[in-house]
Amino acid sequence: MKNRKKALKNKSIFVGVTGGVAAYKTVDLVRRLKDEGASVTVIMTDASKNFITPLSLEIASGNKVYSGLFDSPMTHIKLPRDADLMVIAPATANIIGKFANGIADDLLSTCLLSFRGKVVIAPSMNWRMYENPIFQENLKRLLSHGVIQIGPEKGELACGEEGTGRMAETSEIIEAVKSALSKKDFSKKKKL
Ligand SMILES: Cc1cc2nc3c(=O)[nH]c(=O)nc-3n(C[C@H](O)[C@H](O)[C@H](O)COP(=O)(O)O)c2cc1C
Repeated sequence: MKNRKKALKNKSIFVGVTGGVAAYKTVDLVRRLKDEGASVTVIMTDASKNFITPLSLEIASGNKVYSGLFDSPMTHIKLPRDADLMVIAPATANIIGKFANGIADDLLSTCLLSFRGKVVIAPSMNWRMYENPIFQENLKRLLSHGVIQIGPEKGELACGEEGTGRMAETSEIIEAVKSALSKKDFSKKKKL
């Protein structure tokens, strides 16, 4: 373990946390991204604070946790500039709908819009929401723009029902992050 090669060394990963029941799992995701050598910065939505505290994520990441769009000027532009990748876990139907439609009404959605790198989303919700055709259209739209989806899985959901909506396992999200970062970003190169 000590001499294991850290696949995410020198990578800056921004983790967006939204208001879903799976938000408590993000503490483990943040820890494990750090174990892989990444520097992790967390952006929380207001709704996510009902499920997990900013303090837990600050301790896990070892970095300040961001949340308010108007807390300090230009955070929505400056923050994402330093990121190699953004991962949204869990990704609510709401953030997926906002991102797919270019809505920027809080810090996370505004950062997503100003970020020009790869974005990985781990949707998590009740199967009725997941299978809603409007949600599926939003998802399809994001995928057509290069957003990488991981999960959800089928199984027992927090509401007690069975269906597709469980957030992907942490290890799978980390694999998706590694794979996304190992592919060359030609669009970025072109711009440089
Ligand atoms: C107890 C509870 C659990 C919820 N779980 C989810 C969930 O797992 N996935 C989801 O998409 N929305 C869920 N919601 C709804 C979101 O919290 C709501 O749409 C919220 O506006 C999301 O805001 P955000 O995307 O800015 O975090 C839940 C709501 C409640 C009250």
